[in-house]
Amino acid sequence: MPRVDRLLARNLSMGRRLATRLFRSGRVCTPEGVSLRDPALQIKPSELPCEIIIDGHLEVLHARYHILQNKPLGVVTALRDGRHPTVRELLEDIPLLGELRPVGRLDLDVSGLLLWTTEGDLLHRLTHPRYAVPRVYQAALRGPYAPLPEDEPLLLDDGYEPAILGLEALERADAHPSLAIPEETERLATLTVASGQFHEVKRIFAALGTEVIGLCRTAYGSVELPRDLPLGGNLPIDLHAIFADLHPAERPLRKQRPKPEATPPSAC
Ligand code: URA
Repeated sequence: MPRVDRLLARNLSMGRRLATRLFRSGRVCTPEGVSLRDPALQIKPSELPCEIIIDGHLEVLHARYHILQNKPLGVVTALRDGRHPTVRELLEDIPLLGELRPVGRLDLDVSGLLLWTTEGDLLHRLTHPRYAVPRVYQAALRGPYAPLPEDEPLLLDDGYEPAILGLEALERADAHPSLAIPEETERLATLTVASGQFHEVKRIFAALGTEVIGLCRTAYGSVELPRDLPLGGNLPIDLHAIFADLHPAERPLRKQRPKPEATPPSAC
């Protein structure tokens, strides 16, 4: 069971010694006003999240935490980077900030839904191809694109077969406010994939004969990017509950191929 001073240190990203001192010096109490002077007090996981008061301010201690973020363009999906601002720099005053990790990555020139979690196992399941979690992207395209091949898989330039679940034209009125639509855009489309290879969506549209000039991820599994969440903003979300039933896909998800017609019985 976690000690309350360690929980406090993890949640508020402070040193353990400082957290211990806060308890010993009588600056921490329960919301009911009972002083908490024992830094070694153990908190049952079932009691979390729990509230405590430090110097009169309410703090909530969590064992795990998740957020959804609306990633802006020009920001790199990394905790640290020498050249560009990072998605991590956009996060402030968030519990367990030191333990939060982004779920997958979006390119520098891609906006939209980025999930974060403190749970390594959940992160693994959300990103591993075996779990085939659908990701929905809205794309602004330089020109028309070819339809997906009917009777054979679409292969990318290196022979990789992306798990494409859907491709459809997108009306401008339905475009997410966070999708950048440059002037030269000729088509808009929504693409759903259940895999997450490097530059996958850009490479899929390249294989279909066009170029992505604006890209925004609008959903990850059943989690949708709220239309009113501004670029750079974030919201808490319980990914643990949402993805509790996430199991490996039975077999790799593929577009259904039409069954070959039955051969008529031969006359001879
Ligand atoms: N596909 C891309 O091409 N880029 C992303 O950032 C995500 C998916």
